[in-house]
Amino acid sequence: MKPMIFSLFDTLSLTAAIQDKYELELGEVILHQFPDQETYLKISSNVKDRKIIVATHLDKPNPKILPLLIFAETARDLGATEIGLIAPYLPYMRQDKRFTPGEAISSISFARLLSHYFNWMTTIDPHLHRIKTLNEIYTIPTTILHSNDQIAWWIKKHIKNPLIIGPDKESEQWVSNVAKKINMDTPYVIAEKTRKGEREVEVSIPKIESYKNCIPVLIDDIISTGKTMTKTVEQLIELQFKWPVCIAVHALFDQGSYENLLSSGAEKVITCNTISHPSNEIDITGLIVDSIESHL
Ligand code: R5P
Repeated sequence: MKPMIFSLFDTLSLTAAIQDKYELELGEVILHQFPDQETYLKISSNVKDRKIIVATHLDKPNPKILPLLIFAETARDLGATEIGLIAPYLPYMRQDKRFTPGEAISSISFARLLSHYFNWMTTIDPHLHRIKTLNEIYTIPTTILHSNDQIAWWIKKHIKNPLIIGPDKESEQWVSNVAKKINMDTPYVIAEKTRKGEREVEVSIPKIESYKNCIPVLIDDIISTGKTMTKTVEQLIELQFKWPVCIAVHALFDQGSYENLLSSGAEKVITCNTISHPSNEIDITGLIVDSIESHL
């Protein structure tokens, strides 16, 4: 029997696309918040002896995590034989080190938690920096999908003569790849970022005067406070470049950061729809849908 698919936290269009392609049954789950903020959860569909898949958004994760774990625990208790997780954005990947004594390495705690409740997980472009692969911290099989093709396609379609710019060393992995996919000779440069605090960064761009006729396209995996992008945009404007286009995979956007980035001089801010946001212009649904086949 094919798995049953569930949607949690606003992933209905993603689950509908998966359902359509593989003719999966959509499971019914009721989530309700009691006046005391605790969660009521009921799985109304019969999951006994069924494999199930749950797709969920996990940005602003804390209020979503506990209901998600209660869902998994309940499904297992009701007889589900396997529970797969589709989380287009994987949170808690940036605290991947004990920077000062006593700090939690929350990437590891979170990975242990999810590995305990789920049989497999699929995600898009997780923030891998000091941790190089998810296998280092997750004990379940994980699939990492990359949005490089979709981002490169968008740039190719909309921007003539781009100069791809990565705001920091970590971004080189996807920036170099995207540049190559646009065209073998698309230029790219990597800036240097120093993070001074949660909302304070310094970015220094290498010599790029010879690219003055190009449109700068900044690419990063995450925009959160938007400071990384804003600082880079401001410098490019100072260097009298054309207004840059900013592209990110995951639109975390802290309060006001989208508006601030636009008013700092960005021509456009574009993201993938791993998190719902008005800037979503790059659709990664097909990427996830195709990857699910191996779990049926
Ligand atoms: C971190 O290194 C990431 O790749 C992003 O550059 C970072 O998360 C962006 O954060 P913010 O928008 O707060 O500057």
